[in-house]
Amino acid sequence: MLPHQQIITIDGPSGVGKSSVSRRVASKLGYTYLDTGAMYRGVGLFFYRSGIEVDDEAKIAPRLKEIDILLIPPTSTNGDVGVILNGEDVSAQIRTPEMAMIASKISALPCVRSFLTDIQRKLAQSGKIVAEGRDMGTVVFPQAAHKFFLDADARERCSRRVIQLREKGIEVDGEEMLEMIRERDRNDSRRAVAPLKKADDAQLINTTVLTFEQVCEEILSAVARKAGSTVHPAEPK
Ligand code: DC
Repeated sequence: MLPHQQIITIDGPSGVGKSSVSRRVASKLGYTYLDTGAMYRGVGLFFYRSGIEVDDEAKIAPRLKEIDILLIPPTSTNGDVGVILNGEDVSAQIRTPEMAMIASKISALPCVRSFLTDIQRKLAQSGKIVAEGRDMGTVVFPQAAHKFFLDADARERCSRRVIQLREKGIEVDGEEMLEMIRERDRNDSRRAVAPLKKADDAQLINTTVLTFEQVCEEILSAVARKAGSTVHPAEPK
């Protein structure tokens, strides 16, 4: 299979800064940003509201067909990608720490993974995509030409998350947040299907001591180097 020059994958654990970096890289290149975590959060919310235990695959599998999930661009007041779940804007509801934990648990189910993997591949059919998540480079887009894996120390990721949530008006206890981050790391990297893992051909970027600008620069230069003349930066926005 030929490498797909117009797909960039950015994977890594919670709180490592993937979303803001992916958003910036996509905007610089004029690509679409695909936030796959938002999709897992939307599916998690659907089953949370249905009162079904998030590990009950027998009850979840037949109901996935009831879900219609749509990503909407970040709003100006809040930088996160939004989600329309069966016609309802649930962008704010999916961004709580509780919904992150539910998403982490439900994402271990093979039926949920294949349901969302299909949607993600369809969304990327036309290329020009920056796909962010846990299994973008390993499972969903193994043919992507540009793969990155961001990592950072858990305490650093925790303090970044606390600041982000505070900016959204959500107060969290630092130690509780650290425990949640560690639990999500365990769930996401130990599950049997599509675990959080660096693809063999992904470039590892340790963001612990890098600024946001430095991480974006590192990715954009790596893409430009590898793509040669095939990727042209869009006009600055
Ligand atoms: O990136 P995020 O924090 O919004 O993701 C929420 C959860 O969704 C994360 O803990 C694991 C799951 N997830 C996944 O399993 N695979 C992805 N590609 C994206 C997210």
